[in-house]
Amino acid sequence: MNVAAQFRKAIARRLAHISSCSEAEVLAALGTPKTSLMHQFNIPLPRVFPKDRLPDARDLADKFGSCDPLIADVSATGKFLNFGVRRTEYIKQTLQQVYQEKSSYGCHTQNVPQTVVIDYSSPNIAKPFHAGHLRSTIIGNFVKRINEAMGHRTIGINYLGDWGKQYGLLSVGFEKYGNEEELQKDPIHHLFQVYVRINSEKDELVEQQANAYFKRMEEGDPQALAQWRRLRELSIQSYGPTYQRLGIEFDRYSGESEAEPYLDRVYDMLQQRDLITVDTETGAWCVDLEEENLGRPIVRRADGTTLYLTRDLAIMLQRMEQYNFDTGIYVIGNDQGHYLQRLFCIAQKLDIASQLKHVSFGKVNGMSTRKGTVVFLDDILNTAQEQMEKNMRESGKYDELMETGVEKGNERLLGSEAVDTVADQLGASAVIVQDLASRRVLNYDFSYDRMTTARGYTGVFLQYTHARICGIERRTGVPITSDCDFSLLNEKEAFELSVLISQYPDIVELSWRQLEPCTLVQYLFKLAHSASQANAKLRIKDMDPKLAEARMLLLWSAKTTLANGLRLIGVEPLERM
Ligand code: ARG
Repeated sequence: MNVAAQFRKAIARRLAHISSCSEAEVLAALGTPKTSLMHQFNIPLPRVFPKDRLPDARDLADKFGSCDPLIADVSATGKFLNFGVRRTEYIKQTLQQVYQEKSSYGCHTQNVPQTVVIDYSSPNIAKPFHAGHLRSTIIGNFVKRINEAMGHRTIGINYLGDWGKQYGLLSVGFEKYGNEEELQKDPIHHLFQVYVRINSEKDELVEQQANAYFKRMEEGDPQALAQWRRLRELSIQSYGPTYQRLGIEFDRYSGESEAEPYLDRVYDMLQQRDLITVDTETGAWCVDLEEENLGRPIVRRADGTTLYLTRDLAIMLQRMEQYNFDTGIYVIGNDQGHYLQRLFCIAQKLDIASQLKHVSFGKVNGMSTRKGTVVFLDDILNTAQEQMEKNMRESGKYDELMETGVEKGNERLLGSEAVDTVADQLGASAVIVQDLASRRVLNYDFSYDRMTTARGYTGVFLQYTHARICGIERRTGVPITSDCDFSLLNEKEAFELSVLISQYPDIVELSWRQLEPCTLVQYLFKLAHSASQANAKLRIKDMDPKLAEARMLLLWSAKTTLANGLRLIGVEPLERM
């Protein structure tokens, strides 16, 4: 059990013993005060006792006394009780736990793990990767990792926009303007160029050809499908390395094109439940959701073709059949909120899935590259990387790294390769942390300058704090051991940092409950800030070995916690920068 929880349990046990409330009631009401140095836990008595039996806070504090082995002092402010822990004991248990659990510190286990399907990133082939896709990619990766940290089984799916009439158009365009060499070299950009070109000269003839081509695809014409599959495969292949720069791997590339085998069942289910009405004017099939205030969405056009909504229903059926998931999470922008309400409402009527969640997010203003506004993911990452390289030149880090090199996995990179790698990882950290730092439903302004400064609340600052502690470890050579004299850690900076470290497992759980990455990121800022303060105050170099060991364990624990948190948001912590 995590240390904070253990101390809370001690409070609950004792309070239940000396009053009329139960342990569970106390545990549910115990909180963490904002400034945690004076008291680490508090409880508003009216949340535990009925109005007419509210005990006097001061009496209760006296009764609690000061002989508990974990809780040192209890005081009253108004109707609140405040608890202060025995500091050395608290620090000891916290650091020992991190030492034992290392990279799994903060992870939880479940008696009955759930299967969670996460639909994220999901760009459209031959179209720009816009800000919405960037956010879905970054937030989705967090959703996946935090579910894993909570002990659940996850399946991450990239649901590509890869079907519909526009892909008939793309294929016609490719027959006219496609260039095999360019396709192999850079399929994403090449297909986009082809699409833009054919779209710009779309006349009646081209449109007819495109419709005819798509019809062949829908009817399963082997030649049309083979060509289509090849373009799709090549696109997926070239997404891979770009996603990797963000530490992302999907369990599966799916897409709207996989819906077809499930469509008939969707129509059957809708008919069985008498949910289809045929629009007398257009002949389209609709589902009446007026009672739910969601209008009458079309699920089948008069010509028999499907819609985005129909394909999403079919794919949900596919996922249910293949994964039998407990929770289905859709990481999509606020602007598709109404659409998802319709999807979830119909899915519920059809009993396809039990738990469906929309993890929504706001818009990004001003996302572009230095050159223009049409952006692909690798262009964004390249620009962030260039900016980082420029910063590194200015701060002198560039030359330093050219000399020292860096370790990457088991490899040792030297010279410009080392610089490029670090700049790339820092650039990605900057993009990710900027995206996750505020509540996800809010909009934010994209700024390469701001996100890449080492000062202020950025990914670079978090990486910098991590790397600096790694550097101290390297330079001082003080061994990491949990067999320390913890009473030597008696400064307020040491205690404050330990309290923050001890909160990490609860933060993971809270961030998971809300599916809100900023809860974790804001915590990491606080942790990094507190670690820097401790680092400035608690010297290690040339100190008495016992003292140096205790302080080193403290900084190492902060670094380990920071690294674990960074990995949850998809940032690989750097040991040198
Ligand atoms: N491709 C879609 C878009 O670019 C996003 C797909 C989201 N996922 C889904 N199951 N509808 O807007």
